[in-house]
Amino acid sequence: MTVSCPETKLFPTQHDLPESTRRHMIEDLNSTLATLVDLKFQLKQAHWNVKGIHFVQLHELFDALAGEVDGYVDLVAERATTLGGYAYGTVRDAAEHSVLPEYPVDAVHGKDHLQLLVERYATVAQKLRGHIDEASQAGDQGTADLFTEISRGVDLRLWFLESHLI
Ligand SMILES: [Fe+2]
Repeated sequence: MTVSCPETKLFPTQHDLPESTRRHMIEDLNSTLATLVDLKFQLKQAHWNVKGIHFVQLHELFDALAGEVDGYVDLVAERATTLGGYAYGTVRDAAEHSVLPEYPVDAVHGKDHLQLLVERYATVAQKLRGHIDEASQAGDQGTADLFTEISRGVDLRLWFLESHLI
Protein backbone atom coordinates (compact mmCIF):
# COMPACT_ATOMS: atom_id res chain seq x y z
CA MET A 1 0.00 0.00 0.00
CA THR A 2 2.62 2.54 -0.96
CA VAL A 3 1.35 3.57 -4.39
CA SER A 4 -1.48 6.01 -5.00
CA CYS A 5 -4.69 4.09 -5.57
CA PRO A 6 -7.81 5.72 -7.10
CA GLU A 7 -10.05 3.38 -5.06
CA THR A 8 -8.95 4.90 -1.73
CA LYS A 9 -12.11 6.51 -0.36
CA LEU A 10 -11.79 10.18 0.57
CA PHE A 11 -14.13 12.40 2.54
CA PRO A 12 -14.78 15.96 1.39
CA THR A 13 -12.35 18.45 2.94
CA GLN A 14 -11.07 21.97 2.45
CA HIS A 15 -7.53 20.66 2.98
CA ASP A 16 -5.42 22.30 0.28
CA LEU A 17 -3.05 19.42 -0.54
CA PRO A 18 -3.91 17.86 -3.93
CA GLU A 19 -6.17 14.81 -3.78
CA SER A 20 -3.52 12.60 -5.41
CA THR A 21 -0.99 13.60 -2.75
CA ARG A 22 -3.47 12.92 0.04
CA ARG A 23 -4.34 9.50 -1.42
CA HIS A 24 -0.68 8.59 -1.58
CA MET A 25 -0.03 9.75 1.99
CA ILE A 26 -3.15 8.01 3.34
CA GLU A 27 -1.93 4.75 1.84
CA ASP A 28 1.55 5.14 3.33
CA LEU A 29 -0.02 6.06 6.67
CA ASN A 30 -2.31 3.02 6.62
CA SER A 31 0.59 0.74 5.72
CA THR A 32 2.49 2.19 8.70
CA LEU A 33 -0.60 1.90 10.90
CA ALA A 34 -0.91 -1.83 10.17
CA THR A 35 2.77 -2.39 10.93
CA LEU A 36 2.68 -0.39 14.16
CA VAL A 37 -0.44 -2.19 15.45
CA ASP A 38 1.39 -5.45 14.74
CA LEU A 39 4.55 -4.19 16.47
CA LYS A 40 2.56 -3.12 19.53
CA PHE A 41 1.10 -6.59 20.02
CA GLN A 42 4.45 -8.27 19.28
CA LEU A 43 5.92 -6.14 22.09
CA LYS A 44 3.10 -7.23 24.37
CA GLN A 45 3.81 -10.84 23.43
CA ALA A 46 7.43 -10.27 24.52
CA HIS A 47 6.27 -8.45 27.69
CA TRP A 48 4.04 -11.36 28.70
CA ASN A 49 6.33 -14.27 27.86
CA VAL A 50 9.88 -13.15 28.58
CA LYS A 51 11.69 -15.09 31.32
CA GLY A 52 15.20 -15.20 32.75
CA ILE A 53 17.51 -13.38 35.14
CA HIS A 54 16.64 -9.97 33.64
CA PHE A 55 12.90 -10.65 33.75
CA VAL A 56 11.75 -7.51 35.57
CA GLN A 57 13.87 -5.12 33.51
CA LEU A 58 12.83 -6.60 30.15
CA HIS A 59 9.19 -7.15 31.17
CA GLU A 60 8.96 -3.45 32.04
CA LEU A 61 10.97 -2.26 29.03
CA PHE A 62 8.79 -4.17 26.56
CA ASP A 63 5.63 -2.79 28.13
CA ALA A 64 6.97 0.76 27.97
CA LEU A 65 7.83 0.27 24.30
CA ALA A 66 4.34 -1.11 23.59
CA GLY A 67 2.83 1.99 25.19
CA GLU A 68 5.07 4.23 23.12
CA VAL A 69 4.10 2.46 19.89
CA ASP A 70 0.44 2.75 20.88
CA GLY A 71 0.92 6.52 20.91
CA TYR A 72 2.39 6.38 17.40
CA VAL A 73 -0.59 4.29 16.26
CA ASP A 74 -2.96 7.08 17.25
CA LEU A 75 -0.88 9.81 15.61
CA VAL A 76 -0.62 7.90 12.33
CA ALA A 77 -4.31 6.93 12.24
CA GLU A 78 -5.40 10.51 12.89
CA ARG A 79 -3.08 11.90 10.21
CA ALA A 80 -4.84 9.56 7.72
CA THR A 81 -8.25 10.86 8.79
CA THR A 82 -6.97 14.45 8.88
CA LEU A 83 -6.11 14.11 5.20
CA GLY A 84 -9.67 12.98 4.46
CA GLY A 85 -9.10 9.24 4.52
CA TYR A 86 -10.16 6.22 6.52
CA ALA A 87 -7.86 4.75 9.16
CA TYR A 88 -7.57 0.97 8.77
CA GLY A 89 -6.37 -0.04 12.22
CA THR A 90 -8.12 -3.26 13.19
CA VAL A 91 -6.07 -6.29 14.13
CA ARG A 92 -7.29 -7.93 10.91
CA ASP A 93 -5.96 -5.00 8.89
CA ALA A 94 -2.70 -5.31 10.78
CA ALA A 95 -2.48 -9.04 10.08
CA GLU A 96 -3.10 -8.44 6.38
CA HIS A 97 -0.89 -5.41 5.75
CA SER A 98 1.92 -5.39 8.34
CA VAL A 99 5.43 -5.67 6.87
CA LEU A 100 6.64 -7.58 9.94
CA PRO A 101 7.06 -11.36 10.11
CA GLU A 102 4.97 -13.32 12.61
CA TYR A 103 6.32 -13.29 16.17
CA PRO A 104 7.45 -16.75 17.34
CA VAL A 105 5.03 -17.77 20.08
CA ASP A 106 7.61 -20.06 21.69
CA ALA A 107 10.24 -17.34 22.32
CA VAL A 108 11.11 -17.30 26.04
CA HIS A 109 14.59 -16.06 26.91
CA GLY A 110 15.34 -12.37 27.13
CA LYS A 111 18.09 -12.48 24.53
CA ASP A 112 15.77 -14.15 22.00
CA HIS A 113 13.08 -11.50 22.50
CA LEU A 114 15.67 -8.73 22.22
CA GLN A 115 17.01 -10.15 18.94
CA LEU A 116 13.50 -10.56 17.52
CA LEU A 117 12.58 -7.01 18.48
CA VAL A 118 15.85 -5.56 17.12
CA GLU A 119 15.01 -7.10 13.74
CA ARG A 120 11.49 -5.67 13.83
CA TYR A 121 12.56 -2.19 14.95
CA ALA A 122 15.21 -2.13 12.20
CA THR A 123 12.56 -3.02 9.60
CA VAL A 124 10.19 -0.33 10.87
CA ALA A 125 13.00 2.24 10.95
CA GLN A 126 13.91 1.47 7.34
CA LYS A 127 10.28 1.71 6.15
CA LEU A 128 9.78 5.00 7.96
CA ARG A 129 12.83 6.52 6.29
CA GLY A 130 11.33 5.64 2.91
CA HIS A 131 8.01 7.20 3.90
CA ILE A 132 9.74 10.41 5.07
CA ASP A 133 11.33 10.79 1.64
CA GLU A 134 8.06 10.03 -0.16
CA ALA A 135 6.07 12.52 1.94
CA SER A 136 8.73 15.15 1.51
CA GLN A 137 8.91 14.68 -2.25
CA ALA A 138 5.10 14.73 -2.46
CA GLY A 139 5.07 18.15 -0.74
CA ASP A 140 3.31 16.98 2.43
CA GLN A 141 5.69 18.34 5.05
CA GLY A 142 3.19 17.65 7.85
CA THR A 143 3.18 13.92 7.15
CA ALA A 144 6.96 13.98 6.56
CA ASP A 145 7.34 15.60 9.99
CA LEU A 146 5.15 12.95 11.64
CA PHE A 147 7.09 10.11 10.01
CA THR A 148 10.33 11.87 11.05
CA GLU A 149 9.19 12.15 14.69
CA ILE A 150 8.29 8.47 14.82
CA SER A 151 11.45 7.49 12.96
CA ARG A 152 13.61 9.29 15.52
CA GLY A 153 11.81 7.47 18.36
CA VAL A 154 12.13 4.10 16.65
CA ASP A 155 15.85 4.69 15.99
CA LEU A 156 16.32 5.52 19.68
CA ARG A 157 14.57 2.32 20.78
CA LEU A 158 16.57 0.27 18.29
CA TRP A 159 19.67 1.54 20.09
CA PHE A 160 18.11 0.66 23.49
CA LEU A 161 17.36 -2.89 22.35
CA GLU A 162 20.68 -3.44 20.56
CA SER A 163 22.65 -2.18 23.58
CA HIS A 164 21.53 -5.27 25.50
CA LEU A 165 23.13 -7.56 22.92
CA ILE A 166 26.73 -6.26 22.83
FE1 LIG B 1 1.41 -6.03 31.78
